[in-house]
Amino acid sequence: MTIEREAAKSPVWQNDTPEGPAPVGEGQDWSAWPLYDSSELGLRNYWYPVGWADRFGSKPQAIRLLGEDLALVREGEEIYALHDRCPHRGVPLSLGRREFPDTVSCAYHGWTFDLQSGELRAALTDGPESPICGKLKVRTYPVEQRLGLVWIYVGDGPVPPVERDIPDELLDNDFVMGGRSDVREGNWRFAAENGFDEGHAKYLHNTALWRLFKVMPAWNKTRIQQVGTWLVRVQDEVHWEGNYPGLGVWTNKRWWKRMPLPDRPGRGKKINPVIDSLEIPGFVSIRLPGLLRVAYPKFIHYEWYVPVDEDHVRYVQMMVRFERGLPATAFKAGYLGAIRWLFHGQFTKQDAWMVDVTDAPPERLYRPDSSITTWRRHLEKSKPTPQTRPLRKKAER
Ligand code: FES
Ligand SMILES: [Fe+2]
Repeated sequence: MTIEREAAKSPVWQNDTPEGPAPVGEGQDWSAWPLYDSSELGLRNYWYPVGWADRFGSKPQAIRLLGEDLALVREGEEIYALHDRCPHRGVPLSLGRREFPDTVSCAYHGWTFDLQSGELRAALTDGPESPICGKLKVRTYPVEQRLGLVWIYVGDGPVPPVERDIPDELLDNDFVMGGRSDVREGNWRFAAENGFDEGHAKYLHNTALWRLFKVMPAWNKTRIQQVGTWLVRVQDEVHWEGNYPGLGVWTNKRWWKRMPLPDRPGRGKKINPVIDSLEIPGFVSIRLPGLLRVAYPKFIHYEWYVPVDEDHVRYVQMMVRFERGLPATAFKAGYLGAIRWLFHGQFTKQDAWMVDVTDAPPERLYRPDSSITTWRRHLEKSKPTPQTRPLRKKAER
């Protein structure tokens, strides 16, 4: 943290006494949400998408997930995940070589581990009779491939099916999609809060090219409703402009912008039947362990906030259209030609910028932040298992 930011933080907090509407929450810390507060490294016992399956090859690749280091290796159609640490002297297995099928050999002394079980099958430099074989193993992680993504389970006890952590509509329907996955600066909780945050889109994103021709409201009154495993932002009031006492009118309206943006998917537009059947009462929804769904009349945008470590989040974005044939082909072209750059690029990079510089607590919340506090409460009530800090001698690699 820079000295300027440290200096600026405290006076703003101390001087900011409430004079407007009652805040929905405020605090010097997050002690009102103890589980949330201790979930800096993410939540155990969930499946997480860690990247596109076709990006992982037979050469071991290092990834970090919930602060744990993993080596991912492909063998044919299967992808395996092992703890990225050779038990011999702690060298990363992701530096290893592929000597025999279904195994990886550590780069240092050639200890050779089974990809599936993690068992030590051979210590190449100790000969075929090496007595240490079969006496130890490295930890392995459950891996699945769905939606073109690799999913890894970090947890304990019986492993639930990966389908539990994938929205039903993506399992039950044909669709075409475009997506991006990248690691961004900032803690996963800031990314999730930013996704579900009701207030910022109207201001931060009113400069985004993706919104160049569409008006966004000036302010809304929003309520959060739980629908199954989702929390949904429901708009009770939408205001396209406001007259601010002593200041004047502020609005996102411009002569070249179309309005209104539907505040509920499908309002006033022909809606895709699959999206219609979901009967989502609002535009934006979120669910554990950190998945946002933004439902438009013709497509749905999903984003997963996958904890990498305390200061990094893997941001997996997917734009889905439930179509086949020509509309699907047209969407693919549209995605590659525009959406990928405008929405999954410039627009969400504005979010990435804010997630990186967010510095809370302390914080002083305002009315639209009820979306954030409801999300925190929801996590608290769901009693998840926060990830504890794994033993890691080298903080960064
Ligand atoms: S450190 Fe891995 S084989 Fe020696
Ligand atoms: Fe945003």
